[in-house]
Amino acid sequence: MENKRINEVKEMLQKDLVETDDLKVLDDLRVKYLGKKGLITELNSEIKNVSNEEKKEFGMKVNELRKEFQDFYDKMKNKLDEEELNKRLESETIDISLSSTKVPLGAPNILEKVIEEVEEVFLSMGYDVVDGPEIEEDKYNFEMLNIPKGHPARDAQDTFYIEGEEILLRSQTSPVQVRTMLKGKGEVPIRMICPGKTYRRDDDDASHSHQFMQIEGLLVDKDISLSDLKGTMDILFKRLFGNDVETRFRPSYYQFTEPSVEVDITCVNCHGKGCNICKNTGWLTVVGAGMVHPNVLRMSGYDPEKWSGFAFGFGAERLAMLKYDIKDIRTFYNTDLRETSNFDREDEE
Ligand code: DAH
Repeated sequence: MENKRINEVKEMLQKDLVETDDLKVLDDLRVKYLGKKGLITELNSEIKNVSNEEKKEFGMKVNELRKEFQDFYDKMKNKLDEEELNKRLESETIDISLSSTKVPLGAPNILEKVIEEVEEVFLSMGYDVVDGPEIEEDKYNFEMLNIPKGHPARDAQDTFYIEGEEILLRSQTSPVQVRTMLKGKGEVPIRMICPGKTYRRDDDDASHSHQFMQIEGLLVDKDISLSDLKGTMDILFKRLFGNDVETRFRPSYYQFTEPSVEVDITCVNCHGKGCNICKNTGWLTVVGAGMVHPNVLRMSGYDPEKWSGFAFGFGAERLAMLKYDIKDIRTFYNTDLRETSNFDREDEE
């Protein structure tokens, strides 16, 4: 009886196993033979009703049927899957020979680039790059820098006050010196530079901007002298403008340094011969600096009998203008890409 059923299924299988190019037809066949109520599945569950003598042979025959179906199914499935994939690949091909839309290239912000160059020089000498607030207290911007209220030195920096006489937009990055020393809690060495925005109530013209960037520097340690400052300035400007650039000090006056100096470099345009950029002097003034005033050290928790230091500050725009021959400081704050991306194309392509 059971053998008869096997032969019936076998016959049906022989008829059914014809090539098809339809995955649905193939799947229907799978359900018909191997599904839950499939013909081969049913035969399989018959095994338990077969007498012991016939069990082995019956089992083998059912397995043969299953294998025959499975082989057919696998072969067809692979073939149809492959055909399907090829069809998709064909319809989805991308024509890479089409020309693309041209995307305009950006250029590094020139001011940012100069600041980064300065940072690298000082980082290589063990300095930290630090930040300070742009909205500052009068105490840090002036008083602790030895510029008390009512002092005429305040007039030179026409300041934006925000609240009364106490809160202002910093007019220089020098307050970061004070903040750094207070944080240092009397420990040495202190080596920091601070690039940042500063604000003054100036009328904007080719060389003035009510907002500009300064880079402040401070070093405090034992036995620091003016010659350390000179060496540091030498390194900075040789690295920025080339080894033939020289620096010189001229006496100057700042409330928070004693002695104070202006740092000049040989003119980057005429290399010292004299031209209209250096007003025929051969030199350009680029930095204000000096030895940190004993009062400033003391107010910030450093004993001037024990420690000494130098400080300096300069405008980043002025440096960038000299380096890239930019005539108008307002160029940096102009958002016209045709102008601001024109200075330096070396990073392109
Ligand atoms: N803060 C000064 C200015 O804005 C520049 C300056 C001069 C900074 C001397 C210093 C310094 O640290 O020692 O004009």
